[in-house]
Parts: sequence; structure tokens; C-alpha cells
Amino acid sequence: CLRRVDTFLHRGIGTKVVAAQTEAAVKHDSVEKNDGRKSLYAVQAERQEQAERSVLISCYSRIKHNMFLKYLSRHGDIKKHFFYENNGVYAVVEFARQESVASLLEGASIPRVSQESVVPFKSRLLSLRNLDSGESSNRPSSQRAQPQTAPTINDVMQRLSKQESIDQQITQLTEAYQLTEENISLRYLVCSLLKDVAAGYFPECTIKPFGSSVNGFGKLGCDLDMFLDLDGISGQNMKMPTPGLCLEYQLKMGNSERATTQNILSVIGECVEHFAPGCVGLHKILNARCPLVRFAHQPSGFQCDLTANNRVAMKSTELLYLYGELDPRVRLLVFTVRCWARTHGVTSSIPGAWITNFSLTVMVLFFLQKRSPPIIPTLDELRDLAGPADKSVIEGNDCTFVSDFGNIPLHGNTATPGQLLREFFDFYASFPFNKMSICIRKGTEQNKPEVAPLHIQNPFETSLNVSKNVNAAQLQRFTALCQESAWLSCQSQTMMPKSKSEGSNLQHWGLAALLQPSRVAGVKRRKQRAVGRISESLQSVIESLKSGIQQ
Ligand code: CTP
Ligand code: MG
Repeated sequence: CLRRVDTFLHRGIGTKVVAAQTEAAVKHDSVEKNDGRKSLYAVQAERQEQAERSVLISCYSRIKHNMFLKYLSRHGDIKKHFFYENNGVYAVVEFARQESVASLLEGASIPRVSQESVVPFKSRLLSLRNLDSGESSNRPSSQRAQPQTAPTINDVMQRLSKQESIDQQITQLTEAYQLTEENISLRYLVCSLLKDVAAGYFPECTIKPFGSSVNGFGKLGCDLDMFLDLDGISGQNMKMPTPGLCLEYQLKMGNSERATTQNILSVIGECVEHFAPGCVGLHKILNARCPLVRFAHQPSGFQCDLTANNRVAMKSTELLYLYGELDPRVRLLVFTVRCWARTHGVTSSIPGAWITNFSLTVMVLFFLQKRSPPIIPTLDELRDLAGPADKSVIEGNDCTFVSDFGNIPLHGNTATPGQLLREFFDFYASFPFNKMSICIRKGTEQNKPEVAPLHIQNPFETSLNVSKNVNAAQLQRFTALCQESAWLSCQSQTMMPKSKSEGSNLQHWGLAALLQPSRVAGVKRRKQRAVGRISESLQSVIESLKSGIQQ
């Protein structure tokens, strides 16, 4: 983990103060250059800092919000807060200043419990007690606590059917499923709470969210991918050597970089399991290509995957974020296709031979690069637009691409999201998966380098297939569903908004019709039944012929 990573954008240089100044300059720069749109790097720095000033408090159910806020504001000004529901009411409170958190923790007490086996680990996850009046006052609370879960598909389909165009349906679906501002804050706060655990060993570490929690394509309820970043510590070793005496840290050498990562994750995993309140069901999955520890964070309801030494995944997260920010149709289409795939069982929450959301997102990006004119540029084009500060080589992989949105030319394709959705189904209904590989680096299909039903080149580790896990049956199912949806998309009956007066039951049309249970399996079953009926009739004809001959 203490290896040299040639990425200038993220590297701490010199002392912590210098590093902070450099980071602030990069942050300012990237906000300025991107016409008000923030780079993921700037967003992460801002949100991490907010999370450090925040606490998570389990409250009793009928809590009076005003009283609660007044009680907490004795420690300092509260900048933001929200309440949410997850098997009980929780509050996330962000103070204006860091000292307020210290003051609040100072005033909190260790609970008096009968068992003496409690682990006295003090964290920013607290519980509020009302010692005066019992905790179940029947007075209704003044504000509603928001659930942090996605609406059901039936709810969403009802909402979609009330819209007046497919484009409105696509926007509505994205709004219904996307992560809310609160949910994103909660994700950063959970990372920050876990950082406090890891900081016992590595005080200067950070834990950063990556993947769909931050790439702009996350759906409410998606997992929380995190990585333990120790490069800020190794960055301190990159000071220019000065003549004369110098002191160096003595460090322990691991057998290999992978073994070091496994050991660090194993030890921090143990710590999370035994000391971190709210973290349960930890599994170490250290022999995976990318070693990780998986656990549930109960107060937030997030399933967490903690990795270390995972800079390439962070780069692919940045790339997806950039594509999502370039054109609003990217996010709309990715959300719609992800939702379509989930409702038809193309993707699954259980690991297996299914297409993953990440693979599906890369497929959408590739499709958008193949439009005429293209809606988004290829990764090679983004690399060619990069400036010196964007240069990034990680473990020998070129991860360089431009970070300045304003420098990326777009080609004025005016297709609507609805048209693009139809074209997406057409495109993959007849894609030559047997021979060709999907490659967003080049933006054109490439000959498949290996035998695998579905080949999607990893954008940065180009020798890897992102969809290695997918079997032929799952790919066939995806193609059949694309064919079916492409066909449905051409049926004016299905695609025309249904007037509200047509019967009392709202009829599903447009996108809602595409999300209804597939007929692919149904057709197969009907065919089987028909074949069964034909063979029964043939059988009876043969029987009667036989009996005729015998007579
Ligand atoms: N990743 C990768 N190569 C893979 C799988 C994942 O680089 N073969 C990176 C991607 O940046 C991805 C992140 O790891 O976004 C997290 O992976 P995963 O949780 O599987 O995908 P998400 O994009 O987070 O989607 P989901 O909402 O399903 O969690
Ligand atoms: Mg994920």
C-alpha cells in the first residue's frame, strides 16, 4: 500500500499543510474550469469535510424535533440536519464547526448496562435518551422522517403511467430512484465513522466511497463501496530529498502488495466486527481479485464493501461520473436501462452469472458513443484532451483522461431520451456478441480476444473482461429481452399515452409497459403448450388410424 502511485491529482505532496493547500487549489481550479459543475474530486473533498463535522444519533420514535435541535445546539450552530426512518428514527446532524462535535462527545456518557462486556469504543454514532418522561410519548412528531429505501416498482409504474410522454416517464423514473441529497450525506458519514475505526492504526488514512454511491448512477438501496486510502501517508515520503541528515520511518515489509492489502483489511475488518457499533455480519473475502470485507451497517441499512488499494476502481468511478455530467441523457438512459434490467431479472442483487450494473452502464456508454453523431466521446478522445495535471498511471495502466468538462467538445446530437431507449434495444437486439467485444476506450467494437459469451473490455485494465462472470444463458436472455422491448417500442398501441378516462384502472403504457413482466418466457411457455396440444391431437389421429387399420 505504500507503493508509488503516479497520479498527480490525488497525491499529497510534502507536509500535510502543503498537501491541503495543493488540494484546495486543485479543488478550486476544477470548480472554476468546469463552468460551475464540480469535479468528483471537488465533490468528495467537500462532502468528506461535511461528514467529519457530523454525528449520527438514534432517537426515540416520537421525538420532538425542535427540542432535540435546541438541546444539540448548546454545542454550537447546526448547519444541516435531517431525520430518517430505518427500524427506528435516526438523525444526521452536521455542525458548523468541528469543535462542536468534540464538545458533544465530551458531554455524552457511556450507558449503564448490566453486562460488563461492553466495548468502550466511543464513536460519533450515539443514542438519545429522555430520562425525564419515558421515551414513548404519544405526541406525534412535528416532521416526517424519510425512509432511505427505493419506492416499489408498482408505485413507480403507477407514477409513470400518469405522465404524458415517454421522455417525462424516463425523467420521473430517474427522479424516483436516484440517491437523495440526504442519502448521499449518510453514505459519506458512514465512511467517516469507519475512518475513525481505521484511524486507530493509520491516523492519516481516509475512507472514500466509490462506485454507484458517488458516480451519479446510484439507486436508493445500492451497496456502499468504500476504499481505505493510505496514499496520503505514503505521499509524505515523496518530499524532495535535501542534502544533509534526514530521518526515515522504519516500516514493516509485507510479502507482496496483495498480501499487505489482505493483512490490512483483515485487521481492520476484525476491528470493525468487534469494536464498531452498528456494524454486523462481517465476511472477509480476501481471496477475491480485489480483496474486500463485507458487512452491514445497521443504522443506515447499507451493505458495505470495504476494499483497500483500489485506485483503478476510483478512476473508473471518476470516468462514469464525468460521462454522467457531460450530457443529462447519459444518466437518464443509464437509470432507465438499469431499472429495466432489474425488473426483468437481467441483473440481480445476488452475485452469479448475471450481467452487473457496472457492465450494463459500460454497455450504455458504448451505445451512446456509437450514435451518429456521437453523444459522448471515447475514452481515447478524453485521454487526448487531458492536461499535464490529469496524467495518471496506476499499476502500469494508463488512467489519464481530461478532468475539465469545459474542454470536451460535444457534437450536437439532439435525439430524445425516448428515442435513445428504443435505439438501445435495437442496437443490442442484434449486436454480434459471438465475435465482438465492447470497448469504450475506442468507441468501436473490437474482435473478441478470448472465448467468453460477453466481452466488455475494462476501460483501464484493458486485458480484463468486466463481464467475465456472464454465461451464455444470461446473455441470450438479455438479447431476447432487448428484441422484445425493441418490438414493443414500435407498437403505437403500447407507446401512446392512455387517456385518464379509459376505465378506472390506470393502463400501463410506454416505459411502464416495457417494465411489465416479460412475454419472452410467456411466449416460450405458450409455444410449449401449443406443441403439447399438437402432439396430443397427432397422437389421437395416429390412435384412430391404428384402430381403423386393426378393425
Ligand atoms: N468496478 C470495476 N471493474 C469491475 C467491477 C467494478 O472497475 N469488474 C468498479 C466500478 O468503478 C464500479 C465499482 O467498482 O462502479 C463498484 O462495483 P459494483 O458495486 O459492482 O458496481 P456499482 O457501479 O457500484 O453498481 P451497484 O449499484 O450495482 O453497486
Ligand atoms: Mg456498488
